[in-house]
Amino acid sequence: MKFLLLFLCVVKILRAQEDAVLCSGQTCSTYITENPCAALPEKCKIQNSTYNGLFLPSPDPCGCCQYCLENLNENEFCARGEVGGLIPESICGPGLTCFQDVQGADSRCVKMTDAVTKDDTLSTLYPCSKAQADYDKRREEETSGFLETRPDCDDDGLYQPYKCVLGQTCFCVDKLGKRIFGEIPFTSTADLNLKCECSRKYHEVLKFFDKTALHPNQHFRCASNGDYDTIQCIGDACMCTDAQDGAPTFPNEAPVNISLISSTTLPNCFKKNLHKTNKYYHACAEKYLSILEELEGYKSDGYDTVFEMEEYPKCDLEGQYAPVQKNETTDPVYYYCSFPNGTQIGEYQGSDETDMDCNCARTLLLMEGALEKPQCCQNGNFNPVQCRRGTCYCVDADGSQDVNKPENTEGEIEVSIYEKTNLFCYKEDEQQKCAGTASI
Ligand SMILES: *[C@@H]1O[C@H](CO)[C@@H](O)[C@H](O)[C@H]1NC(C)=O
Ligand SMILES: *[C@@H]1O[C@H](CO)[C@@H](O)[C@H](O)[C@H]1NC(C)=O
Ligand SMILES: *[C@@H]1O[C@H](CO)[C@@H](O)[C@H](O)[C@H]1NC(C)=O
Ligand SMILES: *[C@@H]1O[C@H](CO)[C@@H](O)[C@H](O)[C@H]1NC(C)=O
Repeated sequence: MKFLLLFLCVVKILRAQEDAVLCSGQTCSTYITENPCAALPEKCKIQNSTYNGLFLPSPDPCGCCQYCLENLNENEFCARGEVGGLIPESICGPGLTCFQDVQGADSRCVKMTDAVTKDDTLSTLYPCSKAQADYDKRREEETSGFLETRPDCDDDGLYQPYKCVLGQTCFCVDKLGKRIFGEIPFTSTADLNLKCECSRKYHEVLKFFDKTALHPNQHFRCASNGDYDTIQCIGDACMCTDAQDGAPTFPNEAPVNISLISSTTLPNCFKKNLHKTNKYYHACAEKYLSILEELEGYKSDGYDTVFEMEEYPKCDLEGQYAPVQKNETTDPVYYYCSFPNGTQIGEYQGSDETDMDCNCARTLLLMEGALEKPQCCQNGNFNPVQCRRGTCYCVDADGSQDVNKPENTEGEIEVSIYEKTNLFCYKEDEQQKCAGTASI
């Protein structure tokens, strides 16, 4: 596993160098003389808002020719892909899908948001478009929430890498909209600041290998905003890497030994507020790896089961402590919300790990100095009932306004502060458990 990942990475680096040699300008000009490139479709040459195309890696060996599919506009006829068909010359443009409205009719490009309302089975294919369509409908019926924002979708009807809660924070999500590692204070320019490439890639790799987690030395290290950390070590070899794609920034420079990382050896990427001299792993990852090493030691000595071993701490993708940690020294044990350095945040703690996420306690850390902060429960979760500027509403586990009242549930979506017991998410016993919140 470990070797496979490292291998993939090394192969990527070698490939980049090899390609540079094999497919140099000279190779291409020879290749093109012998195999003239096909003419670019008209729309690809224009590339304005109405006439455009999608450039793709060229099917020729060196990628010498430009290859481009014409983007079809809304309502233009399209052909649905057939296995073994010709290489297509056009596809429905961004946010559009080839859709057959009536049986027997020709397919046309329609907005994904329209297609999902006509054919519910497309909701799983374009979950974000579906969420947009639902939001638009509520908007029209004037039942949308006052803090609700229209979901941001990519051209394929999937979620953009970030989701923002107005005035609170923005955090990374996967393509299906599920929250993943990476959070920053709220910004209206999240599309520029929150690319979440490292965080997203990690989850894709997990899915690919059908794993629930990887050891800290088996994956790229992410930064707290879901980007790649600008220093990566593979085994003992460390190098500067690009925050957006994790590729080596100076591929021709010799790697630096992991025990020698400093502002002198890696002057282009060592950040004093982030990195430690001569030390790559953050405290949690370091502890995790020491336990792993001990465990592997026992295994190589022939012990199958090891009792009395310390448990792995829960680390995040940066190698810092994850939000929920266990204090094992007490009897009974308890769980607490943790700063990235492992110290407990205020008095946020609980006895049941399964219903604890500490999302609210962590969000508060990013909202220092804000006037209106969310209310956290004793266990660090968001109180499902939140109030802002005299209006109370329901939120989900991420603190985002929730207007999806479950079927057969009584109650309102938004009420004035005097009527908060009328909210569909208001539960007396839960509110009592939530109360007595410790501030930080
Ligand atoms: C795009 O280019 C075409 C052809 O040059 C032109 O007719 C059309 O007006 C342009 N559209 C926009 C929005 O600029
Ligand atoms: C890195 O340094 C450590 C000791 O500081 C040494 O044991 C190890 O062999 C070195 N690794 C490489 C690849 O030079
Ligand atoms: C765990 O609990 C003990 C006893 O209450 C306390 O002294 C210690 O600081 C706690 N550890 C952490 C990491 O919070
Ligand atoms: C952990 O971080 C918090 C917040 O930055 C700080 O108040 C606390 O003193 C730190 N704890 C340790 C053990 O460094």
